[in-house]
Amino acid sequence: MSSVFIFDAYGTLFDVHAAIARHKVQVGPDADLVSAIWRTKQLEYSWTLTLSGHYTDFWVLTQRALDFALASVPSVDKSLKPTLLDAYFKLDAFPDARTALKALKAKGRKIGILSNGSPSMLKAAVEAAAIGDELDATLSVDVLKMFKPRPEVYRLVTDRFRCSPDEVTFVSSNRWDVMAGIRAGFRGIWVNRSNMPDEYQDFPPAKVLKELSTLSEID
Ligand code: 2OP
Repeated sequence: MSSVFIFDAYGTLFDVHAAIARHKVQVGPDADLVSAIWRTKQLEYSWTLTLSGHYTDFWVLTQRALDFALASVPSVDKSLKPTLLDAYFKLDAFPDARTALKALKAKGRKIGILSNGSPSMLKAAVEAAAIGDELDATLSVDVLKMFKPRPEVYRLVTDRFRCSPDEVTFVSSNRWDVMAGIRAGFRGIWVNRSNMPDEYQDFPPAKVLKELSTLSEID
């Protein structure tokens, strides 16, 4: 039985496409494209900078990624930038997130977030989603100044909960993040909401879920 359940934040508990979705009409017909470029570039910057040995916090990278997305898709009104950033700062949680965390808490599990997000972003998103009462810890990579999937990041969990890796269930919608969690010795659960094909075959998840609602049935 796993006593500690750790969640990735962006894409797993918080819907990264909700910022654009909230303002879809103003953004216009290329809304989905802008949202996809925004997310792709945000992650790419975190990986390339970490590989180069440099760190810039995730909120700054999120802003730069939006600049790139807006510059790439000329149909979108650039003056929407502050509105979109504000929506990203207070992202919507997926509808099943709060219930899933509550059900795990009721079973006596320890619960935490492990995220690339900066502490202020995570605080704002946790407050907006009203999930603070369910969380025992919100761990940001910021203390290490390096992003996932560096192995040091995943060790923040075992250090914080004073447990061994095999006591940790790691839940992420990012398949590359699940891979790194499994490499760290965690039980990896992949939340595959959008039916993506599997990757990282050397590190298969213990379970693949379509959404978070059935998570508490897992021991
Ligand atoms: C996170 O919250 C990678 O977006 C992901 O760490």
